[in-house]
Amino acid sequence: MPEPQPPAVQAPVREKATELPHPLPGVPECGHRSLLWSRPRMRLCFPNTSLRSLKKSAMRTPQSALELCERVIRVDRIRNEERNQDMTSIQHGSATQELKGKRALVTGGTRGIGAAIVRRFVEEGAEVLAAARSVPDTVPEGAGYVAADLRTPTGVEEVAAAALERLGGVDVLVHNAGGAGPHASALAISEDEWQDVLNLNLMSAVRLDALVAPGMRERRSGAIVHISSAAAFPPVPQVVHYTSTKAALENYSRGMTAELAPFGVRVNVVTPGRTDTPGGARNREEIALMGEGAIEFPDVPLGRDGLPEDIAEAVLFIVSDRASWIAGGNLVVDGAEFPRR
Ligand SMILES: NC(=O)c1ccc[n+]([C@@H]2O[C@H](COP(=O)([O-])OP(=O)(O)OC[C@H]3O[C@@H](n4cnc5c(N)ncnc54)[C@H](OP(=O)(O)O)[C@@H]3O)[C@@H](O)[C@H]2O)c1
Repeated sequence: MPEPQPPAVQAPVREKATELPHPLPGVPECGHRSLLWSRPRMRLCFPNTSLRSLKKSAMRTPQSALELCERVIRVDRIRNEERNQDMTSIQHGSATQELKGKRALVTGGTRGIGAAIVRRFVEEGAEVLAAARSVPDTVPEGAGYVAADLRTPTGVEEVAAAALERLGGVDVLVHNAGGAGPHASALAISEDEWQDVLNLNLMSAVRLDALVAPGMRERRSGAIVHISSAAAFPPVPQVVHYTSTKAALENYSRGMTAELAPFGVRVNVVTPGRTDTPGGARNREEIALMGEGAIEFPDVPLGRDGLPEDIAEAVLFIVSDRASWIAGGNLVVDGAEFPRR
């Protein structure tokens, strides 16, 4: 009869922080991976600890990652409150009513940069229509809203028709809706993904301009802004479909300028760098999740990520009469993050 064996000792199962659920339980809307992998952020939150040891500690257990995240989120919250106070105190001359009497159409005007543009335009007295796919609960007060998917010609037509019906025409058009799509190496991006990103970032602007610009040309006045990305030049691997379409958008804008400037219609590009928005956070998190081969985001020389309000201010300037001799320009608003051509 074999001797009874002692029960096998099970090696403790060690959870890996890299396999953490997303988002982390207990940390609301925590994009923990991109939070922890952003160098400037970590420096700010843990000024006396090296990034390497922070990463190591974050990888050790879910609990240690959770603690780091909570600290980052707390510091972020305080910084945002401070910044918001600063922005309010600057007050960008909202008493000027710079856009009074102007009718503005802003695509992607329900979140992030677009919503900030809408708010700023409303403050300056414009009548504003925001376009996006989902019915938002965050349409800035005072603005109208039209639901449409701008990746399709039909969606673009619906937006142009709504602008004509509700505003009676468009004096200022901001093409802001855009996005990166799934992140992958260049050769892994499928035909459908290319088409999707091309439709959203380039073709929706081309199609909308074709419907809106003729009215401006007839009236011999108007301002069009296309929102590009600092990632267009030099391109960012893992999102070459995004960066290529933004580069094409910049090229197209120059071409449109040549055609429309003689009729008093100004076309310009505004190029944001890393900006604190839901879309921006999602992209950076996806890139961080790619693990091997993922790019490290450079520090922003001006010491912080952009706020949607930073970009909105640049857009307001460029559509206003203060910029009446600027056409075919590209206003880069990126805290000097990316080296430009
Ligand atoms: N944030 C950054 O770091 C950054 C940096 C450089 C450039 N940019 C550029 O700035 C622009 C705004 O970025 P963001 O970060 O503010 O983006 P976001 O937070 O993702 O907001 C995007 C807006 O566009 C709308 N939208 C997206 N797809 C659409 C579609 N197919 N049809 C109609 N509306 C659509 C969204 O609403 P729905 O989802 O409801 O449609 C939302 O209102 C984009 O062109 C982006 O490429 C951003």
